[in-house]
Amino acid sequence: MIQNWNSRFSDNIKVYGGYSIGKLFDLLKDPEIISLAGGLPSPDMFLKHEMRLASGKILEENLEKVMQYTAIKGEPALLDAIVQFLERDNIKVTHENIMVTSSGQHGLDLVGRLFLNPGDIAILDRPTFAGAIVAFQMQRPEFVGVDIQEDGSDVEGFRSKIEALAKEGRKPKFIYVIPDFQNPSGITMNLEKRKALLVLSRDHDIPILEDSPYRDFRYNGETIPSIYSLDQEMGGGHVIGLYTFSKLFCPGLRIGFNIGPAEVIAKLTNIKEGNVLNTPKYNQDMCAAFLTEMGMEEHILKCRKYYGEKLQVFLKTMEEYFPEEMGVTWTRPDGGLFLWVTLPEEIDTHELFYEAIKYKVAFVPGDVFFGENPKRNTMRINFSFASKEQLEEAVKRLSGCIRSQLPSTGE
Ligand SMILES: Cc1ncc(COP(=O)(O)O)c(C=O)c1O
Repeated sequence: MIQNWNSRFSDNIKVYGGYSIGKLFDLLKDPEIISLAGGLPSPDMFLKHEMRLASGKILEENLEKVMQYTAIKGEPALLDAIVQFLERDNIKVTHENIMVTSSGQHGLDLVGRLFLNPGDIAILDRPTFAGAIVAFQMQRPEFVGVDIQEDGSDVEGFRSKIEALAKEGRKPKFIYVIPDFQNPSGITMNLEKRKALLVLSRDHDIPILEDSPYRDFRYNGETIPSIYSLDQEMGGGHVIGLYTFSKLFCPGLRIGFNIGPAEVIAKLTNIKEGNVLNTPKYNQDMCAAFLTEMGMEEHILKCRKYYGEKLQVFLKTMEEYFPEEMGVTWTRPDGGLFLWVTLPEEIDTHELFYEAIKYKVAFVPGDVFFGENPKRNTMRINFSFASKEQLEEAVKRLSGCIRSQLPSTGE
């Protein structure tokens, strides 16, 4: 037996703990617990019949090729379908601008490796996606965060931080944002801020990472142009787009893609070569079938209706069971799968999590969504997975649990 394994681990990994919430999720096995914790799409939205058909056809017609190694960058048929998928969103790319990834998380890991040395700075919203934080953390960067606002990232706040760093001779490697229905807050960045972010990127020569898993999940209001498309209108070259089909199609096949300048995509492809080599062709073929043969546009409309109704139920029940005097506030997203709840300062949601388990309801404690200096009185709520009835019941249980912790309204 090797003595002291930890001393053998690389410096980057010695201190690396992965997702800190993993242990909490282990506590959710009790079937009576209604979990609002994971970011799972509903299996009700899986295209089961279409998937079975496509799978049969792929294996019947092409098994020998499907079960082989394949191109690192991605299958040409899927790349073609992605070009079309983006064209409907006013983004113009060719194959040299795209690399297929084995999930959104994979895409984040690859850009982290591409850009970050230990000690490098990444600019983030506070809060932001915990998976991005853990992916980037593997390179031991320094996170500089700015509190997100109701209408998206605080771009002027980013500017102040970047200017202060410039005075110390330091320059962030990138700005990471999720402009549409952000995970975890559900907040969407308005058009002015998207444009201002591009100006900031140009002023300081800092790339933007635009992570877009939820863009098609809009339930109210008008779609706002992506930062990538706005950048293209201004000449392009400042944005790297990260996408996943985990929410829109299914998470099981682990298919996503990154887009960006050809030079960036070529380097990402080199890293992927030493990483997973290629993404399974079967999964790519299934995804290409989703994009071209499974009635994707209709499916998107169905998802909007289905998830939009769940969000309405959730918000309505929140209004009823979380009266203003409780001092609890929450976001009211126009789309996505999440909303963000802020509790009175004295409540630590990590402690509350264990209490909530007794009430048979679960959420994600908000501290994991901060790169630094977490706000511990916050939580992320997922409303896509539980049924409407479960959502109503979960809000009631959560309200009871929180009340029991408040001295003024304690049960
Ligand atoms: C903002 C964001 N980026 C990336 C991902 C990762 O996607 P995937 O499940 O494909 O790894 C998620 C998943 O929840 C996400 O919310």
